[in-house]
Amino acid sequence: MDVVGQINGGLRRIPAWTIYIVGALWAGWLFWLALTQQGHFRADPVNVLERAYGEIALQLMIAGLLVTPLRKFAGLNFMKFRRAIGVTAFFFVLAHFLVFAILDVASLSRVVEETIKRPYVTVGMASFLMMIPLAITSNNRMVKRLGAASWRQLHKLTYPAAILGGLHYLWLVKGFQIEPILYLGVIVGLVALRMNWTQSRAVA
Ligand code: HEM
Repeated sequence: MDVVGQINGGLRRIPAWTIYIVGALWAGWLFWLALTQQGHFRADPVNVLERAYGEIALQLMIAGLLVTPLRKFAGLNFMKFRRAIGVTAFFFVLAHFLVFAILDVASLSRVVEETIKRPYVTVGMASFLMMIPLAITSNNRMVKRLGAASWRQLHKLTYPAAILGGLHYLWLVKGFQIEPILYLGVIVGLVALRMNWTQSRAVA
């Protein structure tokens, strides 16, 4: 069997719920490091935890966007993990938001104030709000209830949510930093690829 076939065979043996378990353990481990102020969590545990959750959320969103191109171009089939990747991305965004709201600014009025005052928070909040219907409808019952076509239409929210997440990161860093530019570049590239396919399918 070729390498791709072997990888796909291995992936078939891993249950999708592994993603949820690994995600929960990872989030818990980071929380523990912040609580006990270990390693690079020593200086400013709340801010480091907030940033770690935000970055993992963005990485998972990119991983979710990569599933289809990986299948199309490399033949690698991560399809069965896509929902778990998306839901875990939402879980990390929620954790990111809760650290911000409860441990960082620690008041609902400050959350509202920061959302209005700081454009990067406004953009982050918009992305978070777009992810809520995606998370709520990421189960078989909702796919059935909405119908496949409407469900697919709704799940196009993934693209603006990912772009706004990348923009949020680029906006909040001070000075020139390559990391947020790379994240946003990859996201925009993957979304453009997707749009291109959708358009060529519509024309064909
Ligand atoms: C719910 C609304 C959101 C709020 C209130 C929020 C707030 C914040 C804050 C306060 C920071 C740290 C800024 C600093 O230290 O100066 C941050 C960083 C970050 N956020 Fe958000 N955010 C939100 C949504 C999102 C979303 C939806 C994503 C991605 C999908 C995201 C990804 C990130 C990333 C990648 C960082 C920087 C991580 C790093 O420095 O390594 N955030 N956010």
